Amino acid sequence: MNKQIKVRRVIRETPDAITVVLEPDPWIDHYKPGQFINVSAQVLGEVISRSYSFSSTPGVDDFPAITIKRVANGRLSTQLVENLKPEMLLETSQPMGRFALKEDAEHSGGLLFIAGGSGITPLFSMIKSVLKTKPEKSIKLIYANKNEQSIIFLDQLQRLAKESSGQFEVIHLLETLASENLLGAKKGRVNAEVLVEALGDVPSFSAVYLCGPQGMMESACLSLNDLGVDPSQIYQESFSAFNTTTAPINEGVARVTIIKENGSEQITIPKNQLVLNAILNAGIELPYSCKEAMCGTCRVKLVSGKLVMNENYALTDEMLNSGFVLPCSGLAVTDELTISYL
Ligand SMILES: Cc1cc2nc3c(=O)[nH]c(=O)nc-3n(C[C@H](O)[C@H](O)[C@H](O)COP(=O)(O)OP(=O)(O)OC[C@H]3O[C@@H](n4cnc5c(N)ncnc54)[C@H](O)[C@@H]3O)c2cc1C
Ligand code: FES
Repeated sequence: MNKQIKVRRVIRETPDAITVVLEPDPWIDHYKPGQFINVSAQVLGEVISRSYSFSSTPGVDDFPAITIKRVANGRLSTQLVENLKPEMLLETSQPMGRFALKEDAEHSGGLLFIAGGSGITPLFSMIKSVLKTKPEKSIKLIYANKNEQSIIFLDQLQRLAKESSGQFEVIHLLETLASENLLGAKKGRVNAEVLVEALGDVPSFSAVYLCGPQGMMESACLSLNDLGVDPSQIYQESFSAFNTTTAPINEGVARVTIIKENGSEQITIPKNQLVLNAILNAGIELPYSCKEAMCGTCRVKLVSGKLVMNENYALTDEMLNSGFVLPCSGLAVTDELTISYL
């Protein structure tokens, strides 16, 4: 279910990124730093839905806000970055997502944040939260961008670092350095050398939060593993969709019963095909939008059988515990599956 939320203000962060400040509304007001909302809109006659993380922080910022970076040839991001204006209505889901500051991480050791491009958005919200609530916690941010002009929240990050009296430090990594490198940025990408430099100054840290393009996250994880960081200390969120050419986890077929308001239908699907695609291929209409485990439109209750999801950006723990699954991201692993849209 979605609700129309009014845009209060649009802030141009960089040539490609805007922050959209929203009017407060109980529908979206109860969010945690790191969470996102799904925004749905018509693009060339088709309704599509994409996730955008909160850049605002509860208890710090007066209004909820999301930050959107235009992706080259990206349908919704281009439309929103080019056209959104104050007073317009944005169709959004409620806040969701499990990428959040961990309780234990809030109690001991410093924190390391590694962001690439628009991946700064959820991390910015988390950093402001830690600065507000945990003045004793040391925070390092390694932030990778193409060049100085593409750094989202540059002024705010510099100000926060300055005002934090040493609690918060930002290390900018740029592909292209300006001739006057006033930021003291390092040239290059996230790798083990850069991390050694950052970690060397943080004798003990309890968690690493990572968000950015898939390639950067993979290389950061490999480097962190090489440096002996326990994988259980690394929390990450990818903005890219998963690869739908997932290796089959099972051979054979499954008998699927689909319960809808107007009755039930039964079909047989291959176990190595994503459940939503297999059902749609059989000519049965089901609700869906992104097909990338992001929007939650295909959400359905699993009544019996087992379905394993490749990814899930849309369902909260509460929904998972209530038995909801995303058939766009799931493969059947049992011979029988029953899903219900009632
Ligand atoms: C949990 C989560 C949180 C996120 N938070 C943020 C955030 O805070 N800020 C933010 O900016 N983004 C965020 N994203 C990413 C965002 O949801 C979108 O994925 C992004 O804006 C691109 O959407 P789009 O519709 O513009 O691009 P799409 O139209 O989906 O295109 C995406 C890419 O695919 C390529 N492409 C599109 N169609 C084709 C085609 N037919 N053939 C080949 N290539 C094609 C495009 O060139 C583009 O590079 C988040 C994603 C997730 C999963
Ligand atoms: S269609 Fe968007 S989550 Fe399944």
